[in-house]
Amino acid sequence: MTICKTAAEMRAHRRTRRQGGRLGFVPTMGALHAGHLSLVRAAREQCDSVAVSIFVNPAQFAPHEDLDQYPRSLERDRELLEKEGVDLLFVPSTEEMYPPGSSTWVQVEGLSDKLCGQSRPGHFRGVTTVVAKLFHIVQPDCAFFGQKDAAQLAIIRRMVRDLHMPVEIVACPIVREADGLAMSSRNTYLDLEQRRAAPALYRSLVRVQKDFGGGERNAARLIGAGKGTISAEPSVRLDYFEIVDPQTLDPLTEVDRPALAAVAAFVGTTRLIDNLALPG
Ligand code: PAF
Repeated sequence: MTICKTAAEMRAHRRTRRQGGRLGFVPTMGALHAGHLSLVRAAREQCDSVAVSIFVNPAQFAPHEDLDQYPRSLERDRELLEKEGVDLLFVPSTEEMYPPGSSTWVQVEGLSDKLCGQSRPGHFRGVTTVVAKLFHIVQPDCAFFGQKDAAQLAIIRRMVRDLHMPVEIVACPIVREADGLAMSSRNTYLDLEQRRAAPALYRSLVRVQKDFGGGERNAARLIGAGKGTISAEPSVRLDYFEIVDPQTLDPLTEVDRPALAAVAAFVGTTRLIDNLALPG
């Protein structure tokens, strides 16, 4: 596995391998878990070679958020990626990605303030800026993202379309623990009691899916049922529960087309997100 630390190294490597077929790319912030590895495997199946980046992007954290605490395990991550047969690992420094005086941002207006964008202002501007930079540096043919960050996925798809980026975006299913909890690097913050309570997010979505399956199409009633499941777990504090159009992220009043039920909640101080598709 070749490891590059700078954009110049990455570009030089890409120039020499230009004839090497389709390059699949998995951007990550490290602290890799089974969800990330499922993206790497999908990239390996669909592409000729695979690049992964590990960069904890300060621009997508607000000052009061967990940037300093965010789990970092570079040596373990490197070993896991090597075992998965990854060809190229990009591990830039903050100065490499944001040279002193950086003042250019990529923002998808109208989407970046929806779902997590409401409670984390500026978060998606940080995500789209770093993903745009990574796409320029890595120059992948396709890039793989997990569906857990459904808003991130919709926003990145829009950015790629609007800016004519020659990158195919591939969405991969959420990977879950046995009790339904969606895999997340932030799950490592949970103590035993919080870990027990955390699957309430998934249960709330399953409840919505069940009511939907039973014929309920009124979004407010479906949301009410989901919120009820969350409030039955006292150590989980709801941030939002919404049913939205998966492309525009606009809330629906009637679920008369494919939709996304999305939840964000705090378990202790850890903010977790999850979603399930409603077929419409
Ligand atoms: O989903 C993530 O881990 C991050 O938001 C991403 C896409 C790597 C950008 O920092």
